[in-house]
Amino acid sequence: MTQKGGRIIVFEGVYPPSEDSYLLLDSLSLEEGDRVLDVGCGSGVISVEALEHTSGAVSLDISIDATRNTRENILRNRLEEGSNVVQADLLTALAPDTKFSVVVFNPPYLPVDEHSTTMDQALVGGEKGNEVILRFLEQLQGHLEDEGRVYIVMSSLSDPDAVSNYMESLGMSVLIAATKPQFFEKLVVLMGTLRHKETVL
Ligand SMILES: C[S@@+](CC[C@H](N)C(=O)[O-])C[C@H]1O[C@@H](n2cnc3c(N)ncnc32)[C@H](O)[C@@H]1O
Repeated sequence: MTQKGGRIIVFEGVYPPSEDSYLLLDSLSLEEGDRVLDVGCGSGVISVEALEHTSGAVSLDISIDATRNTRENILRNRLEEGSNVVQADLLTALAPDTKFSVVVFNPPYLPVDEHSTTMDQALVGGEKGNEVILRFLEQLQGHLEDEGRVYIVMSSLSDPDAVSNYMESLGMSVLIAATKPQFFEKLVVLMGTLRHKETVL
């Protein structure tokens, strides 16, 4: 899916839609009946696309500025019906029985380095870079429908194989939906599909 452009404004201090946002958007396949969870919604670039193609989306971000920015872009695009924007640390604010058919996360995924910036909350995912992603996956259990899909974009610098293995251990089939070379790294979109649990009689 490609953002048509011109529909998103970005507040100061909020992550502007970038290569990773667009790679993730291009990998997404959404259907009218999907119920989407956009984690780390930032400017709302993914939520706007999701609300345009589906019946509803919940958008979460730990940053109050990001949640305000997402709300503003949803309103500008007249997509407020079926939308819910919440400030929260990952999935901690979700009721235990809330389930989604599609979960999208463009996380902070870079390993810590010695240069800190005001964008670190959007960029840095821990010592190895994948700690926020692993915490998110742990919390995702019980919130994905059977056959539901999760899309995560990350860097080749933060061990996508370890993330993929963890997703497999949670009962997902995982494939690489897209890759894009950058200067010193490669962007990778992992797509996991939760396997239907067979009932044993
Ligand atoms: C790389 S930006 C992605 C923004 C937007 N989804 C996009 O694709 O352009 C990562 C976002 O995750 C948010 N974030 C970081 N840690 C988080 C956490 N623990 N819980 C929720 N959101 C978090 C940041 O505030 C930031 O807005």
